[in-house]
Amino acid sequence: MRKKLIAGNWKMNGSQSFNSDWVKVIQGALSDLGMKHLPDTMVCVPSPYLSQMGALLQSCPIALGAQDVSAHPKGAYTGEVSLSMLEDLGAEGVIIGHSERRAYHFESDLTVAQKVKATMATKITPIVCFGETQEQRQSGQTQSVIAAQLKAVTDVLAPDFDRLVIAYEPVWAIGTGLTATPEQAQEVHAFIRAQLSAKTCHANALKILYGGSMNAQNAAALLSLPDVDGGLIGGASLVAQDFVKIIASAGV
Ligand code: PGA
Repeated sequence: MRKKLIAGNWKMNGSQSFNSDWVKVIQGALSDLGMKHLPDTMVCVPSPYLSQMGALLQSCPIALGAQDVSAHPKGAYTGEVSLSMLEDLGAEGVIIGHSERRAYHFESDLTVAQKVKATMATKITPIVCFGETQEQRQSGQTQSVIAAQLKAVTDVLAPDFDRLVIAYEPVWAIGTGLTATPEQAQEVHAFIRAQLSAKTCHANALKILYGGSMNAQNAAALLSLPDVDGGLIGGASLVAQDFVKIIASAGV
């Protein structure tokens, strides 16, 4: 059975005081919850706060993650952050190819693939995002768009890869309050797993997360679907109490 992963994506939010308050509330809420077994949990924070959050999370069962990484090991890449820097700061995961990076920073499928490939050579878990726009869904292109995005990544990986985490994030559901229905989510997740089966014998062990306006109210329905192995949560992860409610909905 696949253990669920609940990962927060803070995007460009947070401050030193917000961060420490968030961790305090999380700690209290998690202990009130008294769950013996938690799902895997992670919070992906802006790079400047990795160090502070790494220290704060020492006393909390939540892993540290980043939101992007360079495919290059080091050198003249102003503004970029390398995998070895993330390792140095204790990050255990990194989001790659989020639709906001694809849209606003013009990251191509190839760039995303190179970042995933570089990350797979480390101990850091890549959480790679795929999803269709509203227009693409309405014109019946959801599967072909996802298949192309997925293929770009799986083509650069050695056969029978494992450890990859996929996040299906329909672009039209991100930050909009619109959520994929359980049927829509399950359909795409099952499609992704079928595509993965052609590339790796580990497809049944790989986690496929849903992202896009997941919140404390809708998490349980989405997380109970057979091919939904967790969530990548933006807005609701900033509200510590809501993030804990989502963790609780995941059970184990
Ligand atoms: P949202 O963001 O939960 O605010 O929709 C999800 C994401 O972009 O990862």
